[in-house]
Amino acid sequence: MTKVTFRPFNSGDTGRCAQLSADAWPIVRSVVAKEDVVPFMRIYVDLSRAASTHLEMACLDNEVAGFLLGRINGDAGGMKRLSAGWSYLKSGSKLLLGRPRLRRPLVFARKFFATELKVRQCTTGSEAEVVLFVVEAKQRGLGIGRALMDRFVSAVRERQARTITLYTEPLSNWRFYERYGFTRRATFIDDLDTYFRKEETEGYVYALNL
Ligand SMILES: CC(C)(COP(=O)(O)OP(=O)(O)OC[C@H]1O[C@@H](n2cnc3c(N)ncnc32)[C@H](O)[C@@H]1OP(=O)(O)O)[C@@H](O)C(=O)NCCC(=O)NCCS
Repeated sequence: MTKVTFRPFNSGDTGRCAQLSADAWPIVRSVVAKEDVVPFMRIYVDLSRAASTHLEMACLDNEVAGFLLGRINGDAGGMKRLSAGWSYLKSGSKLLLGRPRLRRPLVFARKFFATELKVRQCTTGSEAEVVLFVVEAKQRGLGIGRALMDRFVSAVRERQARTITLYTEPLSNWRFYERYGFTRRATFIDDLDTYFRKEETEGYVYALNL
């Protein structure tokens, strides 16, 4: 594998993570104007970051080539939950006030929470979760994703947690998870992706038992 170094996320990484996420999911252009895609993804990264306790960047020549944000239950104390709640309020109100401009923000919010609810129902008892995970397109297939996941799995094992779950869908690389050893725990109609794609689309919950 190419020489990769790892370091914790810092707030200066938000823009790069937003750019990598915007490149990974161009479908968001169906709900925000082109110039608002990266600002929208910044909000998504902020929310993911608030929900995560394991935040790791993979770098090639000091340039961020990928990252994994994950949550390990025992690590999320009261303050962490409070700050996650605050981030949700802040980001939600930004979107509702039109910064960045989201087409039909109330419909988007309804679809987002409908999917979120289904995911939560399928992941009860989960002790850890992959929240946001991306490797830059030109660096995929080099083993960076596997290395980031290995490190998350080690961190989860260290905390004696036994299950990792995640939500994914057909526009994401769910095959990676199957190759890694995750199994599909649930399939459901994904309200948010159906809204993005304007055709009925499934969402999946995967789980890995350690
Ligand atoms: C998922 C992702 C992070 C994987 O990163 P990566 O660095 O390309 O993955 P790796 O090179 O470490 O691949 C690890 C293994 O998965 C396999 N794999 C990766 N993508 C695969 C695919 N589409 N189908 C089958 N196997 C796949 C690789 O062949 C490799 O197998 P091996 O280790 O047994 O040789 C990357 O594809 C990505 O960023 N995708 C877009 C965003 C996304 O979908 N994220 C997940 C959202 S829930």
